Amino acid sequence: MTRWLVTGGAGFIGANFVRLLLRERQDAEVVNVDLLTYAGNLENLSDVEGDPRYAFVRGDVIDPAAWSDAVGRAPDVIVHFAAESHVDRSIDDAHPFLCTNVLGTQSMLDWTRKKGVPTFVQVGTDEVYGTLGPDDAKFVENSPIRPNSPYAASKASADLLVRAAAETHGLRTIITRCSNNYGPYQFPEKLLPLMITNAMEDRPLPVYGDGLQVRDWIHVEDHCRGVLAAAENGTAGEVYNFGADGEQTNMSMVHRVLDLLGKPRSLIRHVEDRKGHDRRYAMGFAYAREALGWEPQVGLHEGLSATVAWYRAHEEWWRRVKSGAYRDYYDLMYAARLAGDGAPGDGEHSGAR
Ligand code: NAD
Ligand code: TYD
Repeated sequence: MTRWLVTGGAGFIGANFVRLLLRERQDAEVVNVDLLTYAGNLENLSDVEGDPRYAFVRGDVIDPAAWSDAVGRAPDVIVHFAAESHVDRSIDDAHPFLCTNVLGTQSMLDWTRKKGVPTFVQVGTDEVYGTLGPDDAKFVENSPIRPNSPYAASKASADLLVRAAAETHGLRTIITRCSNNYGPYQFPEKLLPLMITNAMEDRPLPVYGDGLQVRDWIHVEDHCRGVLAAAENGTAGEVYNFGADGEQTNMSMVHRVLDLLGKPRSLIRHVEDRKGHDRRYAMGFAYAREALGWEPQVGLHEGLSATVAWYRAHEEWWRRVKSGAYRDYYDLMYAARLAGDGAPGDGEHSGAR
């Protein structure tokens, strides 16, 4: 068996990655370490809860000593997703981003070294490269690191600490950087799930500024397959960019959503622009294609249609998130059972900072 420790597995991409691992690697056992911040939702993994190859441990990446015993045998691979991930929140208050994304990554690197974990994969973002002009070439792995938001700066810092741990301590590290993800289980504070769910409720769709900012949209399943390929076949010390040739303006994405839902464009409201708003991201992924044999498989139209259909079919899921009711799930399903029969999550700690 290959033992995987996934941090942040109760979030959007982490949950999709855990599901992919359990489905496609029969020799995988997975421990998901997640603090369950506002963005963590164990309902994202309710279908795999009973799988004997899966375990959940509630814990903060800043403090591995508090949950290390609950994890048990050291993993063969760590895939580090856990992060504060929303740019607007980082503009309001950068401190949680420094705690989790910077100090948390260093703590995970220290734990990797202490436990002798053979491979550490850092899940990074295109936002560390900053912004592009309309005619600039796409980002490549050695583009300058020029983050513009506190979120991006904290993720860039984390990447640099990963690099330093590899150089200084000889850790086997791999960094992946991906463009904007969309797909099932995305928290409805991010553009697409916010627009889809607001439109379904006939509520206004807030578009920042002129809405002509460009993002390179990739389906979460393609990103997860890329992370898996990098973890299994990547070269130590390398960085792999993932994108999907999916450049679209925000307005174009919002129009597509409204059309798929049969809702009127009059729901769109142009609101005040985000501070320091990056104008364009686009990822060159020739290296991942060549070195990992990876390329995106889900076309934008197909992926977006499927995503809108998923939110339509999972109204209960997003209504529980929007109302805050999802926060009770852990208490109902885990904490209460722990008091009794030591069910999944055994050894958890309260974790909240
Ligand atoms: P998310 O916000 O949906 O999930 C983050 C998860 O991390 C949550 O489950 C949360 O509970 C957990 N977490 C937060 N702080 C923690 C802590 N201190 N200890 C343990 N767990 C903690 O984020 P996401 O969109 O799934 O992104 C996952 C990773 O992928 C992040 O590192 C992000 O920077 C990166 N990434 C995201 C995108 C994107 O488009 N969403 C693109 C590229 C890279
Ligand atoms: P977001 O999903 O927050 O991802 P990121 O900032 O990491 O790219 O935002 C995607 C784009 O959509 C970005 O240009 C900001 C814009 N946006 C809006 O116009 N309105 C919104 O309500 C949100 C959340 C984002």
